Amino acid sequence: MANKGLHDARKVKKDEFYTQLTDIEKELKNYKQHFKGKTILCNCDDPRVSKFFYFFYSKFYTLGLKRLIATCYKNLNPDLFSRNLDEQAVYCIYDGKDRANDVITDYDTFIRRNEWGVLKGDGDFRSSECIELLKQTDIVCTNPPFSLFREYVSQLIEYEKKFIIIGSVNAVTYKEIFTLFKENKIWLGQSIHSGDREFGVPDSYPLDAAGFRVGEDGKKYIRVKGVRWFTNLDYKELHEKLTLYKRYNEKEFPKYDNYDAIEVSETKDIPQDYDGVMGVPITFLDKYNPDQFEILGMSASAGYNADIVGLPKLKAIKDARPLIDGKNTYARVFIKRRGNK
Ligand SMILES: C[S@@+](CC[C@H](N)C(=O)[O-])C[C@H]1O[C@@H](n2cnc3c(N)ncnc32)[C@H](O)[C@@H]1O
Repeated sequence: MANKGLHDARKVKKDEFYTQLTDIEKELKNYKQHFKGKTILCNCDDPRVSKFFYFFYSKFYTLGLKRLIATCYKNLNPDLFSRNLDEQAVYCIYDGKDRANDVITDYDTFIRRNEWGVLKGDGDFRSSECIELLKQTDIVCTNPPFSLFREYVSQLIEYEKKFIIIGSVNAVTYKEIFTLFKENKIWLGQSIHSGDREFGVPDSYPLDAAGFRVGEDGKKYIRVKGVRWFTNLDYKELHEKLTLYKRYNEKEFPKYDNYDAIEVSETKDIPQDYDGVMGVPITFLDKYNPDQFEILGMSASAGYNADIVGLPKLKAIKDARPLIDGKNTYARVFIKRRGNK
């Protein structure tokens, strides 16, 4: 039980990261053309705290939004950080006018009015009342709890929603998430492809954590590595072609023992004249242009099935990971150039 408590605490901590406005602005500026006349849902967001809600509230007219909905989880208190202690949660449905006297006000005035509704349940994104709000939505935009990332994304796909969400790059190796990449139903966003990003964390966050600091505002922040935006909305840079400099040669690009594919150990070295299947690092997804390449599969774990790997095995080798001269290579995404151009 003690372990369970610890596990739960870690889980909660991992899920309580608060996205900064600058990161939201840098990504969402790429999708302006998609927002006009649309209903936006931030369904892991306390409207009194979330910078996602703040962003859409402040830009409601500039973006030409129709409606903005936010729901949070197990939280009634307008504290900075949700402690998930309440059985219910608040929601806000904003349609451009503030309810009190039908005027448009700045965010702070709006917040002070305290006109939040209370959900019947706890605000779980999977609850029926939250699903009802999801159904009324065109685009979902948030930082969902990472521990529920697969379920979160599969619900968005099930209800055929457009989305821009932020999460850990590790999610690309989850079978369910990778399958969406392979089927071109999801891709990485525009603004983050390396490094780390800073997130707000609860006051209870341990002081000895790496990359931790207390800001001038007295709030705690932590730098998190390997963060990416995930979306199914189109944006201009997604169609930018990766410039290929190298030409194929057998020495530099050896064939795998167990797959009819060549090893390309750095994305920038993809040969411009190879028409067959190539194994590239997972970071290829940061450069992926669906018009230029086709994703056939991925081999990142010995446990992947044939559907995920996407290539038949050449030999009866149990390991799904690509081998060269009997040695394991790294996790690889299998790709092919489109149209042989
Ligand atoms: C990573 S935090 C991000 C918060 C906010 N979206 C932001 O970016 O600042 C994830 C949030 O999801 C909430 N959450 C956890 N489980 C949830 C669930 N089942 N349904 C909805 N929200 C949940 C947590 O309370 C937490 O506030």
